[in-house]
Amino acid sequence: MKKNGLTTTKAPLIERVREAGELFIQESYYDLYNEDNQEAWKKIYCKLSPLWEKYASSKFLKGVKLLNLTSDKIPNLSDVNKSLESSTGFKLKAVSGYLLPGIFFDCLKKRSFPITITIRGLDKLEYISEPDIVHDLAGHGPMNTDPVFTDILTKIGFLAEASAKRHLSISDPNERISKIKSNIRALARFFWFTMEFGIMKENGNLVVYGGGILSSPGEMIHSIKSDEVSRFPFQLEWVINQGFNPAKMQPILFFIDSFESLYEQVKILEQWLHEGKLDNISEGEPVIKDEELKGYI
Ligand SMILES: [Fe+2]
Repeated sequence: MKKNGLTTTKAPLIERVREAGELFIQESYYDLYNEDNQEAWKKIYCKLSPLWEKYASSKFLKGVKLLNLTSDKIPNLSDVNKSLESSTGFKLKAVSGYLLPGIFFDCLKKRSFPITITIRGLDKLEYISEPDIVHDLAGHGPMNTDPVFTDILTKIGFLAEASAKRHLSISDPNERISKIKSNIRALARFFWFTMEFGIMKENGNLVVYGGGILSSPGEMIHSIKSDEVSRFPFQLEWVINQGFNPAKMQPILFFIDSFESLYEQVKILEQWLHEGKLDNISEGEPVIKDEELKGYI
């Protein structure tokens, strides 16, 4: 009998978990992947892997080896987590879908990285708008083996908590919500231009470390080779005030020199947060809706 599978467009397990109001998937699910799911992984992995060799940061490639990722089969989360445990103590956590910012940042604070376990269909191998295991595990997973990188992730989680606490005492609800949204927007933009779309200088060459780029063959070539992309040295005040369109190839990227230097930037971000410099950053993407503040304030 053909298995139902865990396809992005059709995954009965996910529907059931969501209907029960659960965000995290506790039960074992690996056997639910069907042949099409495994085939989709194999095909997209075989496209991504040679591009990683050309364009990915050496730290990412080291992470791919450490996590034993191969084209043979969709990785089993428990195996991946065993490898992560011995490198950074980070843990990938299977989720049933989108997490509100407060919950997402809280996961980072607790040294876990939420990942979607469904996989794109064979008819949509190159690009889908929503995250799947290719984006979350193949794109983001390997960097979670780097100690400085994961310290940055954790720090972002703590900053989100600090911003929520900092604004609790503001009595006017409109002012409180506006400032909190501004802080979340700043953190989300920082995350976008680093963890999702970050590039870095390595031995004089630009390479990629952001999971949004590393999970898309087209975006990988575009990010490094295209004349349509403006690439600038990382500037914190610009990054946190720069909107973006997630539905398009990214036209502006910022490069860093090392994760150590990026960690220094997060420390500045922390200082700015406490000085109120994140309370009135520019409007625009990502637009934080009122309902997305649930569980955050
Ligand atoms: Fe992502």
